[in-house]
Amino acid sequence: MRVLLTGGAGYIGSHTIVEMCEAGHDVVVVDNLSNSSPRAIDRVEQIVGKKIPFYVADVADEAAMDRIFAEQKIDAVVHFAGLKAVGESVRIPLAYYSNNLDSTFALLRAMEKAGVKKLIFSSSATVYGTPEKCPITEDSPTGNCSNPYGWTKFMIEQILRDYTYANPEMQVILLRYFNPVGAHKSGRIGEMPNGIPNNLMPYITQVAVGKLPQLSIYGNDYPTPDGTGVRDYIHVVDLARGHVAALGYDKAGVAVFNLGTGVGYSVLDMVNTFSRVNNVPVPYRIAARRPGDIAACYADPEKAQKELGWRAVHTLEDMVRDSWNWQSNNPNGYEK
Ligand code: NAD
Ligand code: UD1
Repeated sequence: MRVLLTGGAGYIGSHTIVEMCEAGHDVVVVDNLSNSSPRAIDRVEQIVGKKIPFYVADVADEAAMDRIFAEQKIDAVVHFAGLKAVGESVRIPLAYYSNNLDSTFALLRAMEKAGVKKLIFSSSATVYGTPEKCPITEDSPTGNCSNPYGWTKFMIEQILRDYTYANPEMQVILLRYFNPVGAHKSGRIGEMPNGIPNNLMPYITQVAVGKLPQLSIYGNDYPTPDGTGVRDYIHVVDLARGHVAALGYDKAGVAVFNLGTGVGYSVLDMVNTFSRVNNVPVPYRIAARRPGDIAACYADPEKAQKELGWRAVHTLEDMVRDSWNWQSNNPNGYEK
């Protein structure tokens, strides 16, 4: 298939290019580089050994999207493009609503004109809000998101359902990611957060490399085995392969899949495994709970295994080793 990846220069998109090329697909990328570097595409090209058609454009620019669909014969789209920083979304909600929703509207209109029927959307476990129970199945209630970023995912899911109801030949796959971490084993591509990271893994790697003095563990009084928060961390290469598997899903309508491992690890599990596997200390202190955090969140990944034939295979050791390989070889990300 020839697949258009919106936001393909980003963290998950760049890894997905590699896995799609390895599975024999052709990939085209559109990205406005608002949160990524063109060097990510250069590095991907070195890994896969071929040129990737790359358009620098905003997905909300419908004329630009029309041109891409006219120049490239696209069979399917993976829509990664979006703003994703939770804290920033609370400060500048309009930027989040307009970027994430407008890009989806323009993409759908351009797909409609070009007759492209298959769309895979990057959703998030954040749509489950505070889950009633873990592991979380796809039919668990959604909504009650704690921030505008989460609401954009919830709203786009609903928009895609309404659009598919009106256009029943569409094949829409909503992939709800749990917590992506890790990097390609080459250490050539990885996550490049702007400023001080919010998420746990990039914070740990930046402490380990000496850029930040110590990690704050947000709360050790949760009702979890060691008191620290529990999450379903998934290696980004497994996540990328979930998109390859979704390309093969051929039913019309909307389908929803969790992409997680089904196993929850605590913050202390992560810190201790990182130090042990990489033989590098991660100084930490226990701090107050972070507002908006939940105690535990992990997936039931059965549905993706049954219907997509996909499951995560990388271990926690793989995740911490590959995250460190990327960070220690590229202390400034894609900056030289
Ligand atoms: P990322 O920021 O690395 O990648 C997103 C890419 O989209 C960036 O390259 C950015 O430049 C581009 N972009 C943003 N708005 C655009 C626009 N209007 N037009 C063109 N390009 C645009 O983020 P990521 O971690 O790779 O996430 C990819 C997708 O997965 C996002 O939609 C994100 O919300 C979703 N997601 C991510 C996580 C996570 O923890 N990383 C978890 C759940 C869901
Ligand atoms: C965050 C987002 C969520 C998003 C997800 C994946 C919030 C409130 N939620 O979730 O919307 O979908 O990332 O990108 O931001 N932790 C520390 N110290 C740190 C950082 C994190 O102890 O410096 C802890 C957290 O309290 C949590 C765990 O590590 O228990 C994971 O945190 P994080 O990586 O931010 O992911 P989520 O909270 O799951």
